[in-house]
Amino acid sequence: MKSSMELSELIRTVWAVMFLGLIALYTFLLRTVYKASGTLIRQNTELTEGKKHLEEAIRKLNYSYRETVAAASAAIDARDAYTAGHSRRVADIACKVGKELGLEDSQLECLELAALLHDIGKIGVPDHILNKPGKLDEEEFKKIQTHPVLGYNILKKIEFLSPMLPAILYHHERPDGKGYPKGLKGDEIPIGASIIAIADTYDAMTSDRPCRSALSHEFAAEEVKKHRGTQFNKEVVDAFLKIQNLKVK
Ligand SMILES: [Fe+2]
Repeated sequence: MKSSMELSELIRTVWAVMFLGLIALYTFLLRTVYKASGTLIRQNTELTEGKKHLEEAIRKLNYSYRETVAAASAAIDARDAYTAGHSRRVADIACKVGKELGLEDSQLECLELAALLHDIGKIGVPDHILNKPGKLDEEEFKKIQTHPVLGYNILKKIEFLSPMLPAILYHHERPDGKGYPKGLKGDEIPIGASIIAIADTYDAMTSDRPCRSALSHEFAAEEVKKHRGTQFNKEVVDAFLKIQNLKVK
């Protein structure tokens, strides 16, 4: 009888020890998980903050490089009172045509910057040629024709501008091979260059020049249409002709 009582006392003691052990283990695990989750929450907050700062820095960088391009573009146009705002308008028209053609956002951004800088090579062309009111002679025309290559050479060392270089270098090429500087034909001409070519010509025709007043939209659009497939890419002409309100006054 006594040994039976001792046995049940022993069992109770073992159960009590086990119960207390489990409580201690549970408390320990709970504290560990709580500490770990606190660390995770803190790290997550720090990462979110870090991401916000990084995004803000990228946004500022992107803004300042676009501002730099816009300033360079305005400097090109400022050489001649008649071309004031030309590059900005070419960029706006080019973007409308690019959208009509279904270009992606990154391609449109590249197209806009290329259009803003398309004539930067004119910095290397003397004023008396650039601003000559009458017809250019052969030598002067040759000098003007160097501007796409000059522009390419000015910009080629700037890494972030490298995707825009083909559109700048080839914006005076023609599908019939009569353009410059390389005489590329048809699909050899990058789409960005083909879009800028039309936007550039259209804006030049519909702006006042030293030798004439601005031509009407109807006349300029008809001229673009007339040179579909020879001076201008057919697909780009078709997209161009579908757009209403090409120019914002
Ligand atoms: Fe040009």
